[in-house]
Amino acid sequence: MIKVLFVCLGNICRSPLAEGVFRELVKEHNLSSKISCDSCGTSSYHIGELPHHLSRLVAQNHGMRLTHKARQLKAQDFTAFQYLIAMDASNMQNAQRIKPTEAGNYGELLLMRKFDNAQSKKAVADPYGGDTADFEECYEILHESCLNFLQFLKEKHNLVS
Ligand code: 4NP
Repeated sequence: MIKVLFVCLGNICRSPLAEGVFRELVKEHNLSSKISCDSCGTSSYHIGELPHHLSRLVAQNHGMRLTHKARQLKAQDFTAFQYLIAMDASNMQNAQRIKPTEAGNYGELLLMRKFDNAQSKKAVADPYGGDTADFEECYEILHESCLNFLQFLKEKHNLVS
């Protein structure tokens, strides 16, 4: 099983939405037996909470139900997951700080927007405090990036759907 972990700050806006979008795409490509995913935050701010109501609303408008409970990234996640996908450079840095320092075989830490159509490596902008349109824009970016990331995994791991 290829295990993917989406990482943001609070684990209530961007990464649970990325998890929902990616899981749905994996399902559509008949790869649920080969790829699984989860999400987490680099902060402890919202541990145990459901996703933000606007992430849930936007997900629902696209036919998904988000039931994830927020959790914080931990050092062991780097051994449990092959891919850790950070929503922005700041959370990539936060994640680097949590990564074990001893030598080992750890998951690859990558930026989500390395996989957008322009490979822009920009931030998936934090929609926290924004309105429905901001969350919808976040969804669109995640959908595009997750689709390309899935294509990357299919090619890299020779996955046939
Ligand atoms: P997320 O958004 O990292 O996409 O879940 C945020 C959620 C909460 C906070 C910041 C960003 N906060 O400061 O509480």
